[in-house]
Amino acid sequence: MFLCCFLALVALIPSSFSTNPGVVVKLTEKGLEYGRQLGVASIQQKLKTITVPDISGAEKVPPIGKVQYSLSNMKIRDVGLPQFEVDLVPGTGVRLAISNAFISMDGDWRVKYLKFMKDHGSFDLTVKGLTVITSIAIKSDETGRPSVSNINCAASVSSTSIKFHGGASWLYNLFTTFIEKGLRNALQKQICPLVADAVSDLNPKLKTLNVLAKVDQYAEIEYSMVSSPTVSKSSIDFSLKGEFYNIAMHQEPPFAPSAFSLPPEVSNMLYIGVSTFTANSAAFVYNKAGVLSLYITDDMVPKSSPIRLNTRTFGAFVPQIAKSFPGLLMKLLVKTVKSPVITFEPNNATIQTAGTVTAYAIQPNATLTPLFVLNLDSSVSAKVFVSGMSIAGSVTLNKMDLTLGTSYVGDFQVRPLDNIFQMVLKVVVIPKLNAKLAKGYPLPTLGKMKLVNAQLQVLKDYMLIGTDVQFTG
Ligand SMILES: *[C@@H]1O[C@H](CO)[C@@H](O)[C@H](O)[C@H]1NC(C)=O
Ligand SMILES: *[C@@H]1O[C@H](CO)[C@@H](O)[C@H](O)[C@H]1NC(C)=O
Repeated sequence: MFLCCFLALVALIPSSFSTNPGVVVKLTEKGLEYGRQLGVASIQQKLKTITVPDISGAEKVPPIGKVQYSLSNMKIRDVGLPQFEVDLVPGTGVRLAISNAFISMDGDWRVKYLKFMKDHGSFDLTVKGLTVITSIAIKSDETGRPSVSNINCAASVSSTSIKFHGGASWLYNLFTTFIEKGLRNALQKQICPLVADAVSDLNPKLKTLNVLAKVDQYAEIEYSMVSSPTVSKSSIDFSLKGEFYNIAMHQEPPFAPSAFSLPPEVSNMLYIGVSTFTANSAAFVYNKAGVLSLYITDDMVPKSSPIRLNTRTFGAFVPQIAKSFPGLLMKLLVKTVKSPVITFEPNNATIQTAGTVTAYAIQPNATLTPLFVLNLDSSVSAKVFVSGMSIAGSVTLNKMDLTLGTSYVGDFQVRPLDNIFQMVLKVVVIPKLNAKLAKGYPLPTLGKMKLVNAQLQVLKDYMLIGTDVQFTG
């Protein structure tokens, strides 16, 4: 019996239990405070929908005899939530405490007595000292999106005050007890379910988390949660997969995310940590898709450049080229031979690439005749920044190292060609790459979320975005 239960428990532990996140999102108390402000209005609206059923009955009142009474048309006029606190409960979730709240309402009263006597009027009523305490759990749903639920709730009312208009004052005392009793019942029954409603109204919004964010025709980023959020004294931390995939086929790269945690900063509402794993999974996807390659022809080199892609320019350094292929234009194919490697050091994002350059002569009949293949190792520095709801970047060349791979034109010195290839990287390859990087990569987002004053810093092994947020609808 024990073994069976134990095995059942083990089976319940999700397989992602040991998966490190590629992206970590931290919601601070400042962020929670913003959520609280949005929550007040929502709960206020809900409480305004409380309905109080008509109350009627008959009571013996000496010396008059039987008095029939009814209270009807009770309507909520206002709900005040002067104290509305949201606190983090480590390990559990969020505690919501409403205190000193009031609900004011009005209605009509009507009585019949001594067979033919009738009277009616109106009343105003205020319920004071309303307290609601509820705990909200935050979990990951089956799609890896956050979901919230009420785990308990208690509501109480401390006093009611009623003011009658019209009628005889001896009647008032009679009603007061019945109104209070009917009202307490109605409120006790409705407040917690309404608060639970307001809480679960959050779920459709949480469902808008872009668990698969499309980047371009090749790639998408998975932002599903790899485990339930963890709640500490000062924040709620969300562990997201943060992995680039090829849209057509999800394939795991030969490396996995390392554990990382965000610094204890709390001055912004939200912190987003993007690991080198995430960046390198992008490099893996694009390299694997074969899109990290570029054919370069002379018309892509600025007119002002004295260096042209032809056998005359190259012939100046490799005489065999000028001799065997006089007067021809050339074409270069630059491509990666393995996934570029991205590293983050404090204030330093670097991309190292191992690639090749193949040079061709373009024959008059358009045939490409290969001249040589060079190995090209390069390192670029990346400037990374937040643009809208995306991370974008631009790179500049750090250094470049050329060695001869294969030559079809005999042996030659590579070093003298450095300037040509530096120029090719700087004026053709890097601008193309930068145009791509400027388009950006979507960050995890919820609904119509805007980042306000987002700052990005590169730290050891991850980038940290600190930002405030604003929901616009
Ligand atoms: C940045 O990091 C790379 C690789 O870790 C290193 O080669 C380079 O020198 C660093 N640049 C600066 C400016 O620190
Ligand atoms: C194109 O021209 C080259 C050089 O003259 C020649 O070797 C090759 O056979 C030609 N190819 C075709 C398809 O005509």
